[in-house]
Amino acid sequence: MWQDLGPVGRAASSGGYFRQPFDSAERECHAWFLQECAARGLEVEADGNGNTVGWWRAPGVAEQPGNAVLTGSHLDSVLDGGAYDGPLGVVSSFAAIDVLRDRGFVPSRPIGVGAFVEEEGSRFGLACLGSRLMTGATTPEQAQELRDRNGVPLLDAMAAAGLEPSLGSSALLNGVGVFVELHVEQGRDLVDRGAAIGVASEIWPHGRFRFDFTGEANHAGTTRMEDRHDPMLTYAMTALAANKQARLSGERATFGRIEAVPNGTNAVPSRVTAWLDARCATDASLERMLAEIEGLGQERAGRDGTSLSVTAESVSRAVGFDADLARRLAVDHTGGDWPIIATQAGHDAGVLSAAGIPTAMLFVRNPTGISHSPAESAEIADCLVGVEALADTLERLAE
Ligand code: GLV
Ligand code: MN
Ligand code: MN
Repeated sequence: MWQDLGPVGRAASSGGYFRQPFDSAERECHAWFLQECAARGLEVEADGNGNTVGWWRAPGVAEQPGNAVLTGSHLDSVLDGGAYDGPLGVVSSFAAIDVLRDRGFVPSRPIGVGAFVEEEGSRFGLACLGSRLMTGATTPEQAQELRDRNGVPLLDAMAAAGLEPSLGSSALLNGVGVFVELHVEQGRDLVDRGAAIGVASEIWPHGRFRFDFTGEANHAGTTRMEDRHDPMLTYAMTALAANKQARLSGERATFGRIEAVPNGTNAVPSRVTAWLDARCATDASLERMLAEIEGLGQERAGRDGTSLSVTAESVSRAVGFDADLARRLAVDHTGGDWPIIATQAGHDAGVLSAAGIPTAMLFVRNPTGISHSPAESAEIADCLVGVEALADTLERLAE
């Protein structure tokens, strides 16, 4: 499976992946997903948001409302992302079904492998768009307003990819009683603990905030320094302030994306737009840190003669996963219990959990902890431990 997926959407220059929702590389991954479902005789169901599930329903097993076990992850990537964030969960899900069949296991509940669309929010800016739409956390009206960087509306992008969009809550989750997502770890917690597998306890609250700095366009040579209203300066000071605030509280603040208008070398810009990704231990501390960063930016804007407005584009509240479920999955393994660890990364599992579906996550050790980068990695031996762990988990859940 890795050999098939390896070249899809991979940039020769960096070795990173560009699989943005509804573009040709992401659709190729989706076609691969359908082939893997067909190869295993899984029944495919799709919703009008672009999410897909392949179901393993053992013959003669009566389906009951809410008894299905769903696993899977996502196939899209961040811009220039790693191979594992998302696809490891999907590949491991198919592999876990193969392991269960080799074991002769016959599930007494349906087991589904899901692929959620636009988990990264790398094209339309809203993280976990597919799972948010299917659970109703984002309404179709909100999603219809989304545009990509080229101004292409979500519905047009879907139609251009040959989909017939019908946004909103979907029947795919109707029968689901539990969801488990396997994911590469995106930090070094498991490395430090010397464990190949962990179970998630919580996801830190996090959000994306657009900072629009407006100033006055002018000549880079003839405008005296004291006469300028330069939004780039206000942005620069705000970025430094964000870094300082996050360090002071032991939390996270990142400006990873910036656009300057008109983006000319010999002109003071008229506008700078920068996106803050902020992640904190609690909902209250996320609000507090955002207010501090915005306050420092406003103060600087006052001194620069510029203006600043802040818009929340994607906010995910704290998620505490089902603690009983996490414990149930983590114990009684040869080799010892799996550690239960927190993460600062967002996941569709967080959205499903917030929607009231009992949810768990398994993490597979990442030797460097690097993620959202072409350097993201996982050892094949750990990935195979992950497949066995997911198979054991599905067996526990589908007995
Ligand atoms: C998703 O991976 C995120 O945490 O941004
Ligand atoms: Mn990611
Ligand atoms: Mn992911």
